[in-house]
Amino acid sequence: MTFTFVTLFENLIAPYFEDSILKRSLDAKIIEINFENPRDYTRNKHHKVDDYQAGGGAGLLMFTQPLFDVLRHIKQQDPQAHIVFPVPAGKPFKQIDAKRLSKKEHIVFVSGRYEGIDERVIEVFGDELFSIGDYVLTGGELPSLVMCDAISRNIEGVLGNVDSLMEESFEEGLLEAPSFGKPKKYEDYEIPSEFLKGNHAKISTLKNEMSILKTQYFRPDLFCRKNIKH
Ligand code: ADE
Repeated sequence: MTFTFVTLFENLIAPYFEDSILKRSLDAKIIEINFENPRDYTRNKHHKVDDYQAGGGAGLLMFTQPLFDVLRHIKQQDPQAHIVFPVPAGKPFKQIDAKRLSKKEHIVFVSGRYEGIDERVIEVFGDELFSIGDYVLTGGELPSLVMCDAISRNIEGVLGNVDSLMEESFEEGLLEAPSFGKPKKYEDYEIPSEFLKGNHAKISTLKNEMSILKTQYFRPDLFCRKNIKH
């Protein structure tokens, strides 16, 4: 899988791939990352990448021409490239999207800065628009990384233990059950007694119940949608 980041600020993104799971995946060539800087596509003398909004309006937008050119270039190189715009007005990005997008060959994240991106760029090139939450960030770099991370861990070979993909939060529309480490008693805190007995069927039933209760408590919105009988 190839991820291309269209960004004015490569340095905000690149360090995330210098450690841990995504570094390993890069080294193992399971994923590949590229960067394209709209500044390299400017045609003006000063390599200007921001511009005033048509009709006035507060703040600057990303300059339209370099974005058209960089995205055209990417599409010419790979017509199948799937172009994603992280924007507050996008649909909420969910685990199901991370799974679906993990099957693509090439995803392009276009990070806006300033007050955003000319809507025509989004209309012409955008395959999907996503928001990562109901708040406004200073740019699209963090949302791009968030989505890239969530997508990557669903790509075969990225996670050492595939079982962890089966048991985790949102997999069944529920939050993951709590996990307990060792020792059985740490200071005054004990783990639930059932976990000590080693009856895996019982532990599995208990985990399922905990998962339901946790969802009900922390995410009643998810729970109502799920309509669980218990
Ligand atoms: N850009 C700025 N804020 C954002 C958000 N919440 N989600 C996606 N992209 C954004």
